Amino acid sequence: MTENRAIPTHVAIIMDGNGRWAKQRGKERYEGHLAGVESVRSAVRAAVRNGVKWLTLYAFSTENWGRPAAEVEAIMELFCRTVVGEGAALAEQGVRVKILGERTRFSASVLEMIERIEATTASGDRLTLVLAFNYSSRREILLAAQSLAQQVAEGRMQAEDIDEQLFASALMTSEMPDPDLIIRTSGECRLSNFLLWQASYAEMYFPEVLWPDFDEEAFDKALEAYAGRERRYGLVNDEC
Ligand code: FPP
Repeated sequence: MTENRAIPTHVAIIMDGNGRWAKQRGKERYEGHLAGVESVRSAVRAAVRNGVKWLTLYAFSTENWGRPAAEVEAIMELFCRTVVGEGAALAEQGVRVKILGERTRFSASVLEMIERIEATTASGDRLTLVLAFNYSSRREILLAAQSLAQQVAEGRMQAEDIDEQLFASALMTSEMPDPDLIIRTSGECRLSNFLLWQASYAEMYFPEVLWPDFDEEAFDKALEAYAGRERRYGLVNDEC
């Protein structure tokens, strides 16, 4: 690993390609998700090893409820089983887990599991692992707009008081830094309702590899690509 290279503070990943991975092997889609859990472990290990402080994984979008009921149930079950089963190992690695998304649609048992993993890993200070679960960015932006509009209607603030900072503080991600690097596996090049506000200045990386094949080496390669990027934030560099 090259020393002194730029390491992103926050890496966010759209884990795509589980279904295709399974199909290529004549397996059920569920087996692709199951194999994808090993890549989640690899990504966490690689993030901790590289000194990344925030890792966000898009595990279940609001739109994913529209998949066949059996697949939704399988992902829910796998998510809960993994999160509960990995709690101790994550805490040992210094990983704090946070769930990002609307909690209204979960069963009592899923809610209980979410609260348990957040509580047992609360003191982790090496990496914050954010699992986006029942998350969609447009919905998040809409809810923020509604909450600010309500405060204006109640006379608690003026419409002109709403600036970027205030708007960001009304989002579900208010405690998180914006992502520096967004990775989407499987060769698809789109954001699919993921961190749309927060992605404004993120670097994008779209490897062809399917999520179950995204191992620690693939994660390191993504960081290498990031280190080679020049981030200008709408400005010009000194040589221009
Ligand atoms: C996208 O692949 C993957 C998902 C919608 C689910 C991801 C879930 C997991 C890896 C399991 C549990 C997660 C955690 C964090 C414990 P796809 O099904 O859209 O693949 P395709 O585009 O090839 O069909």
